[in-house]
Amino acid sequence: MKIGIFISGTGTNMAAICRNFAENRLEGVDEISFVLSDKRNAPGLEKAAAFGIKTIVLPKKKDEPKEDYESRLLQEVRPFGTSLIVLAGFMKVLGHTFLSGYDGRIINIHPSLLPSFKGVDAQGQAFDYGVKVSGCTVHFVDETLDGGPIILQQPVPRLEGDTKETFKARILEQEHILLSKAVSIVCMGKYSISGRFVTLF
Ligand code: GRF
Repeated sequence: MKIGIFISGTGTNMAAICRNFAENRLEGVDEISFVLSDKRNAPGLEKAAAFGIKTIVLPKKKDEPKEDYESRLLQEVRPFGTSLIVLAGFMKVLGHTFLSGYDGRIINIHPSLLPSFKGVDAQGQAFDYGVKVSGCTVHFVDETLDGGPIILQQPVPRLEGDTKETFKARILEQEHILLSKAVSIVCMGKYSISGRFVTLF
């Protein structure tokens, strides 16, 4: 299966996928067709290029309506014919225009155990709340914020002595593992989906 990856920032999750692919450890994936960033200066772009992957930069214009931006995203992405798009730290919430126009699956990695701590800085939200456990979630994307059906989750305990930064770093380590696992599951079709329930086999 051909996949595309959307990023906005450092791109370590994207790089983990690319590394696994380069080392033949990403079952079900035949090609990483592109890495697209909505931020011109995203450090992840250089990482993608170092893996020899085509990079695309497509920022939203100032005051551009969301629908118009998503139409441009669709136009950019459609010619690649990817069956899966992976949101790996892509900081925009995709809406109806993109989701209804894209003829494939979209998955997202979120750094908390959903449905707790949706939105930005989920690790900081969890830390400040005083949780004993948080973690990460890979889910299908629908029109709700971090709300689509859950594919995989990995708990990460908050350890005595953790700072926000160390907690975040240990969650990120697990994200790198979890996201590639989910990509393989989806690309190999090793799941079924019924309403909110994703069954893995
Ligand atoms: C990750 O924590 C991801 O879960 C969140 O944003 C961060 C992106 O990190 N959505 P990176 O760009 O993959 O390094």
